Amino acid sequence: MKIAILIGSIRQGRQSQKIAHYLQKKLTERGLDTDLVDLAETQLPMLEERVGIHPQLPQVVKDLSLRLHAADALIFVTPEYHGSFSGVLKNALDYFSSEFSRKAIGIVTVSAGKLGGINAATQLQQVILSVGAYALPVKLLVPEVYGAFTDTQELTSEHTAKSATRFLDEFYWLASAVYEKKKAAVTI
Ligand SMILES: Cc1cc2nc3c(=O)[nH]c(=O)nc-3n(C[C@H](O)[C@H](O)[C@H](O)COP(=O)(O)O)c2cc1C
Repeated sequence: MKIAILIGSIRQGRQSQKIAHYLQKKLTERGLDTDLVDLAETQLPMLEERVGIHPQLPQVVKDLSLRLHAADALIFVTPEYHGSFSGVLKNALDYFSSEFSRKAIGIVTVSAGKLGGINAATQLQQVILSVGAYALPVKLLVPEVYGAFTDTQELTSEHTAKSATRFLDEFYWLASAVYEKKKAAVTI
């Protein structure tokens, strides 16, 4: 099973990539194949039209479409900006549909304050349902992100470490249930 982790922060001095790298390491330790999709490296133009409709789809969008199709389940990592998830993530999501269809998607939000981006997480759950995917009920919120990691990007917050373990347990349960169902449907 392959898991894509999408980093929805491209801000200068961003913090969200830290929890994305942490989760990638933990998924690898669980024997899972991962693909870290960093929107800072995969810079998409502002959406003019969707995959399948755009007459001259930019190559970067075609490439990302293939990577998303190759993932069996996904994790979206986003900061909370002005009470919602990032614009760069929404722009990326709007290009795609079948890439997410019938896949489990886990939500991770990051904030500088104590609430961990709860507004962003709740709104993103709604959007995930709208792209035909299964939003994981358990969300991973990373509050006070500036103090949660060392300079060498080690997680120092015991609370976040515990939450991350629970999140990954739940994510694996749903992602593997969907994956096994699809595999069984193919062999019938
Ligand atoms: C434009 C902007 C808006 C923000 N709005 C919120 C907000 O509504 N709620 C919140 O808890 N933090 C807010 N913050 C603080 C961010 O959660 C914090 O800077 C966090 O590190 C963002 O993730 P990033 O470092 O990956 O960009 C905002 C930050 C920016 C840059």
